Amino acid sequence: MATIIDGKKISGDIKNELKDKVAKLNEKNITITLCVIQVGNDSASSIYVRNKKKACEEIGIRSISYELPEETSQEELINLIQELNQRPDINGILVQLPLPKHIDEDTIIKTISPEKDVDGFHPLNVGKLSLGQKGLVSCTPAGVIQLLKRYNIPIEGKECVIVGRSNIVGKPMSMLMLKENATVTICHSKTKNLAEVTKRADILIVAMGKPKFITGEYVKEGAVVIDVGIHRNENNKICGDVDFDDVVDKVSAITPVPGGVGPMTIAMLMHNCVETAMN
Ligand code: GUN
Repeated sequence: MATIIDGKKISGDIKNELKDKVAKLNEKNITITLCVIQVGNDSASSIYVRNKKKACEEIGIRSISYELPEETSQEELINLIQELNQRPDINGILVQLPLPKHIDEDTIIKTISPEKDVDGFHPLNVGKLSLGQKGLVSCTPAGVIQLLKRYNIPIEGKECVIVGRSNIVGKPMSMLMLKENATVTICHSKTKNLAEVTKRADILIVAMGKPKFITGEYVKEGAVVIDVGIHRNENNKICGDVDFDDVVDKVSAITPVPGGVGPMTIAMLMHNCVETAMN
């Protein structure tokens, strides 16, 4: 029987630990404030932002939000971020992505002070991660590491195959698995014979953005499968990049969607917020 990795439980554990840490900081008169900026009113973004603010409330982090109109100019957004960078009462700054087309995301991300970059997207933090130095780490891949560790799944020396090479998940994920001494392979849309590669994986991490793409034929018997995808299918049901029912009997452990990796992202965001206050 496969272990179903309970991301909801682990994220709850992490949030409880953080709540204690925040309370201890508060006793020393240290408060933590996250500032969330949303430009436009993309409905998915609005839900993410709401959930982030709710998590802050749960663990005792103050949150401030800016909901800016779609037509906000790049310059106006940069000016706001620069002002927030200067404010000592603000620890974390998060600009919800995607941004409207007239705003360049890379320019915005590098405007955020690296010390306040709780998403871990700033080039300095990305660079530190690849150098193995301490910095703020992208939340979703950091959450995957927490799931593996808290389920005592060994990483060192294991064959880890990551499907997807995004800046938010695939690339930082590969760096984190390397840091844990896995042998890492990254696959992407141009990879030939994908199933041949994914079948080598002791730990298969899928972040490709294709609903139920990974079926049993892509998975080795006894592998650990981590599904980072999230989609809503035609019946309004949520599913991942992995065809859960097709692989569950083959694997030793697997994350469900929903309730696997998803809840970890916000828990790790909260972790990063606390980190910014500890420095
Ligand atoms: N949009 C989708 N995922 C994320 C994320 O992790 N951070 C931000 N800022 N925007 C996102």
